[in-house]
Amino acid sequence: MDFDIADISQADLGRQRIAWADSNMPVLESIRDRFAKEKPLTGMVVAACLHITTETANLLRTLKAGGAEVYAAASNPLSTQDDVAASLVKHEGIPVFAVRGESSEVYYRHLDELLDRHPTITMDDGCDLVSRLHSARPEQLKEVVAGTEETTTGVIRLRAMEEDNALGFPVVAVNDADTKHMFDNRYGTGQSTLDGIIRATNTLLAGKSFVVAGYGYCGKGVASRASGMGANVIVTEIDPIRALEATMDGFRVMPMAEAARQGDIFVTVTGNRDVLREEHFLLMKDGAILANSGHFDVEIDLNALKSLASGERSRKVRPLVDEYLVPGKSGDIRVMVVADGRLVNLGAAEGHPAAVMDMSFANQALAAEWLVSQIGQLENKVYLVPEVIDKEVARLKLATMGVKVDILTDAQEKYLASWNVGT
Ligand code: ADE
Repeated sequence: MDFDIADISQADLGRQRIAWADSNMPVLESIRDRFAKEKPLTGMVVAACLHITTETANLLRTLKAGGAEVYAAASNPLSTQDDVAASLVKHEGIPVFAVRGESSEVYYRHLDELLDRHPTITMDDGCDLVSRLHSARPEQLKEVVAGTEETTTGVIRLRAMEEDNALGFPVVAVNDADTKHMFDNRYGTGQSTLDGIIRATNTLLAGKSFVVAGYGYCGKGVASRASGMGANVIVTEIDPIRALEATMDGFRVMPMAEAARQGDIFVTVTGNRDVLREEHFLLMKDGAILANSGHFDVEIDLNALKSLASGERSRKVRPLVDEYLVPGKSGDIRVMVVADGRLVNLGAAEGHPAAVMDMSFANQALAAEWLVSQIGQLENKVYLVPEVIDKEVARLKLATMGVKVDILTDAQEKYLASWNVGT
């Protein structure tokens, strides 16, 4: 079997951690048990470009149990858990092409390894695999029956492709399922972003001014968790409705040019580029900590920071923290960047906890099954996860949590369906 991983000797540690995650993924486990009996993915070749984590390992095991031939590569050069990659290869027989810290060149070579396997289903997190397939291997598009996309940034790219009539096969936007973004993006990103910053810096959040750039579901999660730990949260936004929401959620909202002077810690979660740039670095307090939790490493303009700190004026101060000396009004100021400005929750911690990835990956597995059941009936468009699947994931998750809900009475059903009963 061909694969490219860091160190096969880490496989046993990986297996132990994958099992730990699995014990917190009961919904996915129940799907895996059913898939093992029904084999709904028989004949499919799945190319998964996802973060190689313990949670992803359990998704890949589920797809394989469902009868698919599965290949995996990283969706970010810094998020791979090398022990997990090793266990997937050694214990699960799943070829993985991912090495933590791989260069951009190796990253794309690994995506090409997936494409060399002629996938019939793509499973992407950020749309790099789909984008590579369309630009470098257009002749293979006809072999792909469908794809799924995990994250907001990827869905935005896919919708742009659809708009341009460039999309070569149907793709399900898993991110847009309620049981994905309302939980993974909010509670997952919220907790794991703080986890990454704290693991990397051991900084105290209580009493700090904590700037969150972007108030989508991820930003809301980060802001509420930081506030819960005693930080004074400032939100920056470009969207008036979200800015209003942040204001009424009790946070101060201001332009980054003002927030830059006040913040002790900055987290970007906008999905856009240059959110923190030269004009902001020059205003920052000494010791400011900068982290990004958006999908790509473009939100902090590192090139600008590097040129401000050129000539040996940067150094590593902890394993995942680089210090840059920036000229301030009265001498140099130190600006700290965590995890190279890459996804801090996966670069400096372990990503979202398994209990929340349970729902995201249940959606992935069920979306793949649904897509196979619809072969030949879909257009080359971006589809939502069918509502029945979304609701089923919520129902299963509640059951595993021991939470019961009410059922409408007949009179209530009738009332909701009527339009002529008023006061
Ligand atoms: N994205 C965020 N957290 C993740 C995790 N734990 N596994 C896979 N993808 C993720």
